[in-house]
Amino acid sequence: MKVLVATEKPFAPVAIQGISDVVKQNGDELALLEKYTEKQQLLDAVKDADALIVRSDIVDAEVLAAAAQLKIVVRAGAGYDNIDLKAASEKGIVVMNTPGQNSNAVAELVFGLLLFAVRSQFNGKTGTELKGKTIGLMAFGAVAQNVARIATGFGMEVVAYSPTNHPEKISKAGFRVAKTAEELFEQCDIVSLHIPANAQTKESINYALLSRMKKGAILVNTARKEVINEADLKKVLEEREDLKYYSDLKVSDHEGFVGTFGMRYFAPPKKMGAQTSEANINAGIAAARQIEAFLKTGDTTFQVNK
Ligand code: 3PG
Repeated sequence: MKVLVATEKPFAPVAIQGISDVVKQNGDELALLEKYTEKQQLLDAVKDADALIVRSDIVDAEVLAAAAQLKIVVRAGAGYDNIDLKAASEKGIVVMNTPGQNSNAVAELVFGLLLFAVRSQFNGKTGTELKGKTIGLMAFGAVAQNVARIATGFGMEVVAYSPTNHPEKISKAGFRVAKTAEELFEQCDIVSLHIPANAQTKESINYALLSRMKKGAILVNTARKEVINEADLKKVLEEREDLKYYSDLKVSDHEGFVGTFGMRYFAPPKKMGAQTSEANINAGIAAARQIEAFLKTGDTTFQVNK
């Protein structure tokens, strides 16, 4: 069987070595398509693949149609909004993610972005501290739980709101529960987004929520840019000069935001929350193992298109 790793943003070499070891130990063949720039390259590469490992790469109906032998796609990571689940299900292709495997990397970056924000982008001017501040977590999945753990070390107060309604998970972990998203945005010095991008959440972070933010608050987004209504974000940042928006995901109008908001907005050139060797190893090897377990024994743990 042929396992294709197709990553526009490649894994660290050490992760590729780990994936290769798992695939070869199972008697399968590994093919690599890294740093591709055209969709056609992906369409050509998937033709004879039995299994596919991707990151944020777009796996739409056209890609799935070109993959005549494909049995399984594993998104090495958490969010699978880049995969057309309906088209995969129609073709009987199993889709999985690797939940939690890259969550610490993303959580650590939240604090990198926060320190950069509160220390005036390291320009030497007087900043503020994170200690004693309240951080509000929008959702309480694997990334948010790591953020909560690290925030405790900084001496911050943690509040979380679970849109999928599992407040007991939050209180059991020892953190304060916000009953509504409105309450979270109103009460916190920092709001950190950890919701997936789906039909329910797209553009859900809108004017009604953003305008409730506390004076001097910071919104951190390491989730997906699609969960924010960009026009509303722009309007609120224009109206409220005290607010900041820091993310590892550029807004569509990146240049415009940089020009208008200066140091109140920051995003790096490329999405980088999960871009560590450790996260690449964890998520990449988990993906390879899940593929081999499925191909050898039919194991569908972590399937997301059931
Ligand atoms: C995820 O959903 O796992 C993260 O957003 C990481 O995405 P990436 O693999 O494209 O870095």
